[in-house]
Amino acid sequence: MSRREKPTPARQALIELTGITKTYGHGEGVVHALDGISLRIDKGEFAAVMGPSGSGKSTAMNIIGCLDQPTSGSYLFDGVEVSRLDRQQRALLRRHYIGFVFQGFNLLARTTAVENVELPLIYRGIPHAERRPLALQALAKVGLAERAMHTPGELSGGQQQRVAIARAIVTEPALLLADEPTGNLDTKSSVEIMELLVALNREQHITVVMVTHEPDMAEYAGRIVHFLDGRIASDTRSEEAA
Ligand SMILES: Nc1ncnc2c1ncn2[C@@H]1O[C@H](COP(=O)(O)OP(=O)(O)O)[C@@H](O)[C@H]1O
Ligand SMILES: [Mg+2]
Repeated sequence: MSRREKPTPARQALIELTGITKTYGHGEGVVHALDGISLRIDKGEFAAVMGPSGSGKSTAMNIIGCLDQPTSGSYLFDGVEVSRLDRQQRALLRRHYIGFVFQGFNLLARTTAVENVELPLIYRGIPHAERRPLALQALAKVGLAERAMHTPGELSGGQQQRVAIARAIVTEPALLLADEPTGNLDTKSSVEIMELLVALNREQHITVVMVTHEPDMAEYAGRIVHFLDGRIASDTRSEEAA
């Protein structure tokens, strides 16, 4: 029996930032939130972003998520120069390719879990009849199928964050951006959220970029990028990932 060697697939960049700067204000009050960041993240990676408060992590995440635009520099998303897109095209890129998870969950109160998860499908113009099954599938992926009809107030913090993750992945994004997703959670819930993000990365092939203050949580990522004063101070891959 002959065994043919499988060629290792070439790594493909999903995110390519080159010389990105972001400046707020002007004159004496000027803040260089990002001071020339170059960073490439390949499809399928799970990268953690760390660094002290004010080092530019959220600014970088907002640019990567096309929620904000850099002052200068180039940002290629899957080979597309984002600065060449107009507002509407950037919104489309966001809706179709990027999911967001935040520290504060950002769920609509008095609205059931499944309705929260359906929201991005409404923005994408998916007909009513198709939304419910897709939202229920996403809730099942985060292990919350039985809580579909509960409102956020009836769920624990960890469960609320899982609903937020279901909402982020219901559109099957290429990229999941999480800004301190475990910042409001106890250790046990934090570990559950990290295990869920790892599973989504490995099994659904979603590229994940996550900001965290906690070294224990960053360990779940295959790569840790440290920000300092609007620059990248270090960028290391774990041995397992390499
Ligand atoms: N909208 C804004 N207007 C003015 N300054 C801002 C704004 N957003 C962020 N900054 C400043 O940019 C720097 C980086 O902020 P940020 O990216 O939020 O840091 P981090 O997420 O690492 O804590 C900080 O000095 C912050 O005060
Ligand atoms: Mg921040």
